[in-house]
Amino acid sequence: MTITPNIAERVGVNLHLRPSHPLNTIKTLIENHFLKTDPTFELYSTLPPLVSTQSCFDDLLIPPTHSSRSKSDTYYYDNTTCLRTHTSAHQSTLLKESGSKRFLVTGDVYRRDEIDRCHYPVFHQMEGVKMFEAGTGGDVIEEDLKRTLEGVTKEIFGEVEMRWNDDYFPFTSPSFELEIFFNGEWLEVLGCGVIQTKIIENAGLKQPGWAFGLGLERLAMVLFEIPDIRLFWSKDPRFIDQFKSGEIIKFKPFSKYPSSIRDISFWTGSQNFHANDFSEIVRNCISEDIIESVELIDEFVHPKTKEVSNCFRFTYRSMERSLTNEEIDKVHFKVRERAVDELGVVLR
Ligand code: PHE
Repeated sequence: MTITPNIAERVGVNLHLRPSHPLNTIKTLIENHFLKTDPTFELYSTLPPLVSTQSCFDDLLIPPTHSSRSKSDTYYYDNTTCLRTHTSAHQSTLLKESGSKRFLVTGDVYRRDEIDRCHYPVFHQMEGVKMFEAGTGGDVIEEDLKRTLEGVTKEIFGEVEMRWNDDYFPFTSPSFELEIFFNGEWLEVLGCGVIQTKIIENAGLKQPGWAFGLGLERLAMVLFEIPDIRLFWSKDPRFIDQFKSGEIIKFKPFSKYPSSIRDISFWTGSQNFHANDFSEIVRNCISEDIIESVELIDEFVHPKTKEVSNCFRFTYRSMERSLTNEEIDKVHFKVRERAVDELGVVLR
């Protein structure tokens, strides 16, 4: 069991269902675009995030050894149940059990990740699946996939330059990513591809289809100019009250509170040290979102003993208030102690 209380309390919050929340605005924008073009698309937004590892990984042909399945990447409830790491977890089940042939699934997904302005252990994805008549050619499906997703992207971002790159996912072949040129740089918008025949056969079907997945925070951050992913969770009316249902409104930062830097250096001690486990300790020591990033700034191997030393730089900053040195010192000390107790590192 790797689901900690600070993660468990996010389950059921469903930011994507709050009417004026930016994540809801993007979700609704995309859903309406699909319905306009094809009213037969079914919408799912409340499928529970606790899923079987079978549907999250095995049904999608993700091999048991794949890094995304490791305990340092995924929040496991037990050996056969985890918090979904992507909305693709519902692909097979919906095809098999609900008979849905065209659908969009939106939901919260969970990953044990690093800590910075763009990563948070809970974020939101939207998945799309469209099945075709048996016998439809692969090139027809690929063409439909690309035109459809270019249409959605235009709906969200207007007339932007787009480019397709080849990509890899175990569950689609061929696989692609779509990028747009926005604010002077190429930005990844989504991943997609033609669903592997084996997945479809395992679901008891004989027809081909495509699938795509996109991250809602990533899109909302650029569209609404939201500078830090923690803000999506803010209860501060200075954040929440800026947004209106269905409108893309540029976020006005209410204040930039000062940051405080603290470092922690240690010998990692064991072969199994994993930075994601360290991030998890940090998140569990800190009940409120007062940490902006934890960055590995130095790593070296002792030439004689071969021991590994890491130095992590912590940037403490709240989006909502000024922090005192005392409170930072207190949590920082707690992080040090817990890292020693739980990971067996040796402080330097
Ligand atoms: N599930 C993939 C991810 O989380 C995205 C994806 C969905 C890719 C469907 C292809 C098809 O990155």
